This record gives sequence, structure tokens and C-alpha cells, in this order.
Amino acid sequence: MVKVLYEEKNIIKTFNIESNKTILDLSRIENIPIEGSCDGSMACSTCHVIIHKDWLAKLPKPCIDEREMLSLLPDYTENSRLGCQIVITDKLEGLQFSLPKDI
Ligand code: FES
Repeated sequence: MVKVLYEEKNIIKTFNIESNKTILDLSRIENIPIEGSCDGSMACSTCHVIIHKDWLAKLPKPCIDEREMLSLLPDYTENSRLGCQIVITDKLEGLQFSLPKDI
């Protein structure tokens, strides 16, 4: 299990999830309000998340398709990622993220 932190309205919630699940998977298990309407096929960007600044460089870089989807977001930030593309591995123990509406 990997510990992941989710910040919502200045409150940090801690969840434990199996390794190799995505942030979108976590949201569905823990009722975090991420829509994810294309189920991870990078066709919607409704899984937009904001990665905490301390973690951004520790993630694999987004592929070109993810970068293109992110570039279309009106609320894009340099810490934006698609939650369906963030695979939570043991190396990401303590990963912290939030949702665009909460920053
Ligand atoms: S769920 Fe659609 S792009 Fe992530």
C-alpha cells in the first residue's frame, strides 16, 4: 500500500492505495470528486489534478498526448496533470495532490 495525501480546502486527507493504481482509481475508491469521464483514455481532461510542488519533479514526465490535453485547460497551472495518467508506485509514498477548484 502507498500513502497518498489529498488536500481539500486546506485540510489534508491521507489515503492508502495499492501500488500501480492511478489517482483516478484512488478518487473512485475514496469518493474524491474527480469526474474522469473517458476512464483514462486521455480524451476528456476531467481528471485534472494539481500536484504539490514538492512532487512534480518526481513524477514521470507527461507524454505528448497528456501535454496537449493539459494545454487546453482554462485553469491549467504548471503543476497540472491528468489524474488518470499518474500511476501511484512505492516511489511516490507521500505524494500530495489537490483539485483545481481547491487551490
Ligand atoms: S479520465 Fe479522461 S483524460 Fe483522464
